[in-house]
Amino acid sequence: MSKQILGIIGALSFEVELLVAQLEDGNSTVISGITFHTGTLRGCPVVVAVSGVGKVNAAVCAQLLITVFKAERIINTGVAGGLAPYLRQGDVVISSDLVQHDMDTYCTGDPYGFISGLNTVKLTADSALCARLKALAENGDDSHKVYSGIIATGDQFIADHKQSAVIIERFDAIACEMEGGAIAQVCCMAKVPFCVVRCISDNADDSAAMSYADFASAAAKRGADLILSFCEGETV
Ligand code: ADE
Repeated sequence: MSKQILGIIGALSFEVELLVAQLEDGNSTVISGITFHTGTLRGCPVVVAVSGVGKVNAAVCAQLLITVFKAERIINTGVAGGLAPYLRQGDVVISSDLVQHDMDTYCTGDPYGFISGLNTVKLTADSALCARLKALAENGDDSHKVYSGIIATGDQFIADHKQSAVIIERFDAIACEMEGGAIAQVCCMAKVPFCVVRCISDNADDSAAMSYADFASAAAKRGADLILSFCEGETV
């Protein structure tokens, strides 16, 4: 039985460049301005894509992975801002669900974050895929902790404690980023299993911009290592 094609999305090239460097039989194609790197990682067929920042870029990228490159499951990796008070730089968060915190038709009677069509707020990640990634992340060194929870996505870099308080109150989210919820929506619409795994780079508060710059590349390395060990263990 041939192994399932795994789509891997990072918003920025530094988030996936370590994976691209490890590709065997690598090739790249540009569609709609997005670069897709095909090949194998530790024997597992993959397509690694650099989506660009934000929900529209991420949605286009996920749909192309599914339609053109026939990805049968998708992992979104990269960095995130921590919302839960216990999260520290370097900790890993794994999605239970994604929400889109800037989706707002509240004044028409919908709940905050309501996604028309799917008619839901929470986009649930694939439990088996996420459980495997969580176990692998917990296997690493003791320098970080691993948490599962709701990840909130929106087209804003959150660097203000009042803004993060609103997201926590409305969605009970533990972390925020700018692509996962869009990828989740595309995957739910196409019935493709997905998981978002992110490394905390900042605390989404008034110091977020500075800590993000300091830490983002170390955090990206942790995500790339995790995906390499995931590919190593692939049997289907
Ligand atoms: N990615 C990393 N940190 C973030 C933040 N504070 N807000 C949104 N996306 C992020």
